[in-house]
Amino acid sequence: MHILVTGGTGFIGSALVPEFLKRGFSVTVLTRHQQPVRAGVTYVQSLDALQTPVDVVINLAGASLAGRRWSDGYKAEMVASRAGFTEQLVQWMSAQSIPPGLLISGSAIGFYGCSRDQFFDETSPGGRGFSAQLCQAWESAASVLEGSETRVATLRLGVVFDRSGGALSEMMRSFKLGIGTWMGDGEQWLSWVHRADVVRAILFLCGDEKASGAYNVVAPRPVTHREFSRVLSARKPTLLNFGLPAPIARLLLGEMADELLLEGQRVTPNKLLEAGFDFRFASLDSALIDILARSKE
Ligand SMILES: NC(=O)c1ccc[n+]([C@@H]2O[C@H](COP(=O)([O-])OP(=O)(O)OC[C@H]3O[C@@H](n4cnc5c(N)ncnc54)[C@H](OP(=O)(O)O)[C@@H]3O)[C@@H](O)[C@H]2O)c1
Repeated sequence: MHILVTGGTGFIGSALVPEFLKRGFSVTVLTRHQQPVRAGVTYVQSLDALQTPVDVVINLAGASLAGRRWSDGYKAEMVASRAGFTEQLVQWMSAQSIPPGLLISGSAIGFYGCSRDQFFDETSPGGRGFSAQLCQAWESAASVLEGSETRVATLRLGVVFDRSGGALSEMMRSFKLGIGTWMGDGEQWLSWVHRADVVRAILFLCGDEKASGAYNVVAPRPVTHREFSRVLSARKPTLLNFGLPAPIARLLLGEMADELLLEGQRVTPNKLLEAGFDFRFASLDSALIDILARSKE
């Protein structure tokens, strides 16, 4: 099996690629940069450089949402590197004499917009706000292939946790100094998922011949930010705990503060559970125990 991974050098892709290699698949990673040689992986900087037919495409590329302040220019880059790039990818896939059988394309739970009281599952409609529009455009670009020879599944990813990178490293900064923090009143929802379960869910969907449509990739037990702080401080004791006032978060981070930190969404992974997927890390405590233990290695 030949797998093409876009964004394969990133936080999720770098954990996913070795799992494909372990299973004996050949992997091509589309990247903007020269990469060190790695057995079993071909790196290409353009789709036209691919020489053998691809069976499955995993589409994870995109400019980081948390990477920079959301200026108009950076917002345009976030959209172009996801929806714009996915349009090109889909055109390339359609033009192949043997099109890939499956496209698993990224998205995020930001699709639903923010709410403090609603439960979101895959049947919930798209919400409002920049991240919601971005995810909707990203999914629409992939869905052009629906009904073609290529099945399409989209991953509505929650906040992915693991050591070395991702949101958890940022969220743990103050805890390392013995200070437990949360943003605003801390009552906003945090639908998180362990990176190992994201990788397992992608492998699961690759092996499920019926996989199609959107999948929420979040652990079954979301928490509020305040609960996150409480669970983490039980493992990493803190001397002081407080919420960063919302106006200060807005001043420091701009629009991103509201959409990614001060408001959230409570999301359930109904479709994965119905399909028989078993989360290895269903509770936040089990995920943190694993991640903190491996952080010491
Ligand atoms: N991690 C999370 O918590 C989370 C949550 C929800 C959704 N997601 C989405 O899932 C996808 C994968 O997540 P991740 O955490 O692995 O992301 P990541 O670490 O930021 O990696 C994304 C990859 O996309 C490529 N990229 C970055 N900027 C780009 C640009 N301007 N144009 C084109 N390509 C660019 C980079 O690959 P090269 O440098 O090799 O080109 C990078 O390695 C992302 O699109 C992300 O938005 C992630």
